[in-house]
Amino acid sequence: MKFDVIVIGGGAAGLFCASLAGQRGRSVLVVEAADKVGKKILISGGGRCNFTNLYTTPDNFICTNPNFHKSALARFSPDDFIALVKKHRIKFHEKKLGQLFCDGSSGEIVDLLLQECAAVGVKIRVNCHVRNIQKTDSFIVATNQGIFAADSVVVATGGVSIPKMGATDFGFRLARQFGLKVIAPRPALVPLTLGENDLRIFRELSGVSVAARVACQEQEFRENILLTHRGLSGPAILQISSYWDKGEALTIDLLPDHSAAALLAAKKSEGVALSTLLGEYFSHRFAKAWATVYGQEKPLRQFNQTELAAIAERLHAWQLFPNGTEGFGKAEVTLGGVDTNELSSKTMAARNVNGLYFIGEVVDVTGHLGGFNFQWAWASGYAAGQYV
Ligand code: FDA
Repeated sequence: MKFDVIVIGGGAAGLFCASLAGQRGRSVLVVEAADKVGKKILISGGGRCNFTNLYTTPDNFICTNPNFHKSALARFSPDDFIALVKKHRIKFHEKKLGQLFCDGSSGEIVDLLLQECAAVGVKIRVNCHVRNIQKTDSFIVATNQGIFAADSVVVATGGVSIPKMGATDFGFRLARQFGLKVIAPRPALVPLTLGENDLRIFRELSGVSVAARVACQEQEFRENILLTHRGLSGPAILQISSYWDKGEALTIDLLPDHSAAALLAAKKSEGVALSTLLGEYFSHRFAKAWATVYGQEKPLRQFNQTELAAIAERLHAWQLFPNGTEGFGKAEVTLGGVDTNELSSKTMAARNVNGLYFIGEVVDVTGHLGGFNFQWAWASGYAAGQYV
């Protein structure tokens, strides 16, 4: 059976691109290996899908070529997707920091995509496994459900995070088959693990959350840190994990809105214990553990100036050395992917393979936490959807 366009992967980018190609009168087949489309959309945003971010800028993305994603993001903005959400009468709200979530459930976004596809006659096959793809004049796509041909193939197979949900490295293998480079994939937006020495102190604080500023590699994020039984998680840690490399320290400012030196000096004469003072800013359990390990449980008046200065410095620049990440099994996204130098930023087409396109997370463009990864899926899907 011959189509104008075959989209491999029925996720966010693939379904959106398919609907746009359909609107241009193209005959489109979406091939999805899982038993249903949009599985990652369904689990996203805690079941409410953080589908975009009002404050999207190119700086919210990591890409080996920092200019690549600018063009697609400029041509399809958060407002454009919001207009589509409104057209489908999906109710939504801003949770914080420009992050837009469905009031109802993520399923509404999947329904939106399916309705857009159905309106223009896009065919969708689930449980459809691609065995191989060859290019002659057109592309020949061999699957367990038969052989299909198309003039354009769009690879929208996503990243490799959460393999138990059907994520595969198929897109990377296909890119290599056609001679495109792939930037080595790494887990991102992922909890970080701590070594036994740190865990001995913090394991019992599992579940405690601290608002802080976390920095690594000249990047910093101000959000909550969550202590877990394996190490560190929470939005600030997930964000910084995309910049962290093995052996590097995280520098944590526990009191970003205060001068720790001034707070310590002000309370010194009152004779309160360090943990009591810290308890005004953190949960009591955290304050006590931190004060015991890095201060000493004694009244502030018994510390000398040098000791107080060291404590103040550590409150603003507490260093932790994670020993790893929780890996692709827990990562929200994949850093790396198809090298953007191989692709046109205008169309997302491979420069050297006529008719082959890569969109969404399979490409080496990774968003911060907060709806940016879906915005990239929509924007890159839109870019390709205008040309396939
Ligand atoms: P996506 O992964 O959506 O789709 C790829 C599709 O291809 C899948 O359906 C897969 O089954 C299919 N596929 C793979 N290999 C195939 C093959 N060989 N043949 C056929 N089909 C194949 N982002 C965000 O912006 N806001 C949020 O709230 C969240 N929340 C979130 C929570 C969790 C738990 C995770 C794991 C991730 C998020 N994300 C997120 C990230 C977001 O889900 C992700 O970036 C997008 O889904 C990427 O869209 P794609 O279409 O590129 O891939």
